[in-house]
Amino acid sequence: MKKLNILVTGGAGYIGSHICHDLIELGHNVIILDNLSTGLEENLHPDSVFIQGDVRSKFDLSKAFDKKVDVVFHFAAWKAAGESMFEPFKYFENNIFGTMNLLEEMILNNCKNFVFSSSAAVYGSPEYLPIDEKHPKKPLNYYGYTKLAIEDNLEWMSSLKGINYAALRYFNATGYDVKGRVTGKEKNPANLSPIVMEVAVGVREGMQVFGDDYDTKDGTCFRDYIHVNDLASAHILAMNYLLEKKSNLGVNLGTGTGWTVLDVIKEVEKVTGRNVKFDVVGRREGDPAGLIASANLAYEKLGWSAKHSDLNTIFSSMKGVYLP
Ligand code: WQD
Repeated sequence: MKKLNILVTGGAGYIGSHICHDLIELGHNVIILDNLSTGLEENLHPDSVFIQGDVRSKFDLSKAFDKKVDVVFHFAAWKAAGESMFEPFKYFENNIFGTMNLLEEMILNNCKNFVFSSSAAVYGSPEYLPIDEKHPKKPLNYYGYTKLAIEDNLEWMSSLKGINYAALRYFNATGYDVKGRVTGKEKNPANLSPIVMEVAVGVREGMQVFGDDYDTKDGTCFRDYIHVNDLASAHILAMNYLLEKKSNLGVNLGTGTGWTVLDVIKEVEKVTGRNVKFDVVGRREGDPAGLIASANLAYEKLGWSAKHSDLNTIFSSMKGVYLP
């Protein structure tokens, strides 16, 4: 396989760092651009070239494109859906403006291949399950809107400037590297899995379960949890797809199976042997009862399916980080 020069924005972050490790093990040159606002230096692969910088800065981007770049993986973005409703301009500036800045720099440097970290949040409230790629896209939060706005712009930049893009819509990303290469814990996590792990290991005294009166098997919401190593393998396949087919791709990444909040808590208790203390409180605004992906298109187009996304593998991999 040809050795490629690959720019990974947000490569010190939770998802980006996992992909960097895989790319380097495949023999590629990886340049990481990360402002370390949420990313961690300890996540950086020692063989990567690290530039501490920001996608909003043309100056920083010009350093990242100093050598010819063949493919860009773009992870650098804010991702807290709740916060995006209070601070929309923060999300506009980093997610939308930052991405457009990056795309412009790619085009100026004749780099045409873009793998984009999108989200199930582009779909909004499910009109049917499982959610396939034909599902209407009506984001419920500004974060989801930023991802949709970028996908729309990618379509334009594909027809106007010849960019090839893959928009990968993650469902609930979770887990840690099954090979133990990434060990940096996310700071102030807002998602269920790290919160439950923090309770299990005593970083938090307890947690809240947002509602147990949904029409689900145990009354709590269910989600489609997808292991970060499965996300990583999809990114590599998507890159190969862009390079071979020179056409665009928008696919869901999930398992097609839903697990409730109580399923998650029970599995963490089983895997860690610790008690997870929780209180059931009222529903969280904007939470749909259930979300699951149809991942058929990713299988059809990329031959991808999840291999590490059963709850036991997910939480055993997290235990390696939270209880080393
Ligand atoms: C999962 C379930 C909560 C915390 C978010 C974003 C989405 C995407 C993935 C990036 C829900 C329940 C949670 C807690 C709880 N992000 N919960 N107590 O909301 O499905 O999706 O992350 O693209 O855009 O919105 O994930 O991990 O916050 O919640 O009971 O302390 O856990 O109600 O049912 P969510 P989550």
